[in-house]
Amino acid sequence: MSEVLFRAAWASPSNIALVKYWGKYGIQLPSNPSISFTLSECRTESRLELLPKSGEQQIEVFLDGEKKDSFVPKIEKFLQRIAPEFDWLSEFNFRLHTRNTFPHSSGIASSASGMSALALIICDLHEQITGERFSDFHRRASHLARLGSGSACRSLYGGLVSWGEHAAIAGSSQDYGTPFAGNLHPVFQDFQDCILLVHQGTKSVSSTVGHDLMNGHPFAEKRFELAGQNLASLLNILESGDLEAFTQLVESEALMLHGLMMSSIPYFILMKPNTLKIIEKIWDYRKQYGIPVLFTLDAGANVHLLYPSSEKAKVEAWIEAELSGYCENKAYICDQVGKGPFRLNND
Ligand code: PMV
Repeated sequence: MSEVLFRAAWASPSNIALVKYWGKYGIQLPSNPSISFTLSECRTESRLELLPKSGEQQIEVFLDGEKKDSFVPKIEKFLQRIAPEFDWLSEFNFRLHTRNTFPHSSGIASSASGMSALALIICDLHEQITGERFSDFHRRASHLARLGSGSACRSLYGGLVSWGEHAAIAGSSQDYGTPFAGNLHPVFQDFQDCILLVHQGTKSVSSTVGHDLMNGHPFAEKRFELAGQNLASLLNILESGDLEAFTQLVESEALMLHGLMMSSIPYFILMKPNTLKIIEKIWDYRKQYGIPVLFTLDAGANVHLLYPSSEKAKVEAWIEAELSGYCENKAYICDQVGKGPFRLNND
């Protein structure tokens, strides 16, 4: 086995958008601003080893210790995209070891956590190899993560992170994520997200195709405008702690996202019958008990059930008793707002 010349390892979390990014232009630039909660337990842990190269560059990827040739093209494409920024990239062979703390087949997108972990690793290696120090390490990593997978650029910080230019967010950029700098109400500081795994497996339509269908979508212009308005309203809600307004805005964003999918040409539906059954259950429970539980959806059939930590015991008992039956193999993952990525021990 060849000698490892440099190595770096990072763990980076997944995130769940409250105001959704749907539609892009250029190289992964968002058509509208978005904001997400960074998760805690759902994350990717990766280690990249740089090896001596002679001849053509070789890239090996291992998932949970097993060689995964099918992952190579995505990594290769990412490395090609960022190559103009890092001269040293072409000088080594690469061996990437990666694992997700959530099941790979769960339908939870691993691109945000995976690409943000890899972006951090590249920045870390750059510092090791060149001796240069980034004064804006996380921002630089966020920019790189965006080039891998748009929403990944929001996984670089804990708490709430926006992405995309917005008049009400100082320093906001199309290029990278910006951590929420307001006075976050305590109720949101440890908000819970239980991911109900309605459909585990690959989705019928990728988000890349979905984003493309926003070009020429009949509702595109109005949608991009509404996303900006919703983000402005949400910024106030995050400070006031108004859970009723939060619920309405977040659920409306989720349904609008799926409404856009259903009204594009070609149209498609990613929700499953059990997605709708769970939504009905959530609405009934909220009405009956007055407990603030709400949902959001990403580009798939799984339901993210959001609730304050003060309701954790009651809500989790209800999930187990009533909602797990609508999940594939009764599977769900309870997570919460997290603190962002961290460096791993290198061995
Ligand atoms: O980053 P992508 O290309 O996987 O797109 C993510 C899109 C949504 O998850 C639906 C919304 C979002 O803002 O994360």
